Amino acid sequence: MAIARRVRESMKSSSWVRAMFETGIRLKREHGAENVCDLSLGNPDLDPPAAFHSTISDLLSEDPDGMHAYMPNGGYPEVRRAVAGYVAKEYGAAVTGDHIVMSCGAGGALNVVLKSILDPGDTVIAPTPCFMEYRAYAANHSGELVPVDGAADFDLDVDAVEAAIDSRTAAVVINSPNNPSGRVYPERTIASLGAMLEAKSKEIGRTIYLVSDEPYRKIVYGDVSVPSIFSHYRNAVVVSSYSKELSIPGERIGWIAASPDCDEVEILVDALILCTRILGYVNAPALMQRVVGRIAGCAVDIAPYKRRKELLCSRLSEMGYDLIEPDGTFYLFPKAPGGDDLAFVEALQKELVLTVPGRGFGKPGYFRIAFCVDDEVISRSLDGFETVIRRFRSDRRL
Ligand SMILES: Cc1ncc(COP(=O)(O)O)c(C=O)c1O
Repeated sequence: MAIARRVRESMKSSSWVRAMFETGIRLKREHGAENVCDLSLGNPDLDPPAAFHSTISDLLSEDPDGMHAYMPNGGYPEVRRAVAGYVAKEYGAAVTGDHIVMSCGAGGALNVVLKSILDPGDTVIAPTPCFMEYRAYAANHSGELVPVDGAADFDLDVDAVEAAIDSRTAAVVINSPNNPSGRVYPERTIASLGAMLEAKSKEIGRTIYLVSDEPYRKIVYGDVSVPSIFSHYRNAVVVSSYSKELSIPGERIGWIAASPDCDEVEILVDALILCTRILGYVNAPALMQRVVGRIAGCAVDIAPYKRRKELLCSRLSEMGYDLIEPDGTFYLFPKAPGGDDLAFVEALQKELVLTVPGRGFGKPGYFRIAFCVDDEVISRSLDGFETVIRRFRSDRRL
């Protein structure tokens, strides 16, 4: 077969995800989509804010010169400045347009960052549970992902990260609020991670970047706020996107912000700009850049997510599910009753409720519920959750 060996291996190792996806399609065909509760996808269902649509209309009627032309690979200078204004305030750092590179979503941003910093054989450490595309992104650029177990309360375990660092470590990637756990890593954890990375960088004689993947930063509940990594570590890079906070994942727009305190920050940003070009992104989408530049800081109203989170947490807890209430995101990550996440997710499928096993996030024994679906779907799924936990309890005397 003419498909590359590494790609063939990736296709095989993610085959259970494909199998689940195909099961979902089959179930919808057999039972009608309206009878299947699909809680497996992180695809936001809320409409983008009104300002998003009105800004597109304004831009189309203004029809600026060269509206659809190439621009500098890092993005429009005025958009980079507008995003920098938001980032400087939000992160309490002296970020200017020169520290911002516009990207094709957070996924594109992560690929640009990793291509810029990885040499063949370098490693990228990621605390689990985490978004497992990181493994493929590291491999895309000759690197290797080193997943490290997080703490039982889903905080990251700084000692475990430290133990995983060696001379090959180029970066630690964290994601807060976290997909799938919904955890926001507390300020004290980020401070101790920063201090540890500073000491370890000296010890191994190379810069270890801290890359913080933050597409869910604006989806947090109660008085939770997401600490700024720029306050705790010099060689820090934030990647983000508007996919979740504006509900526009199909538009592929995001940004990279390098801390102004990074070693040789100008060279780093030049590398990010070059990699945006040579990875074939060339530049982030032109119209979307102009839109987000005008509405920097705007976000969807997260009240529906909050309502669904509260409903799910209270009803599932009453049923006996062992879960930690998420600080943010639209995900819930309970323990799989019985301990076998795949068996549990398959049992839920038989009740027409689709979720994702924790092993897909480097954390077997749990499963992920995505509540970015209509309230009615969530209410309808509750009977299935109840039936399956009851069955697992009586079968296995939990
Ligand atoms: C943690 C995390 N990082 C990155 C991404 C990629 O997002 P984007 O659509 O911005 O590329 C996702 C998407 O679900 C995600 O959950």
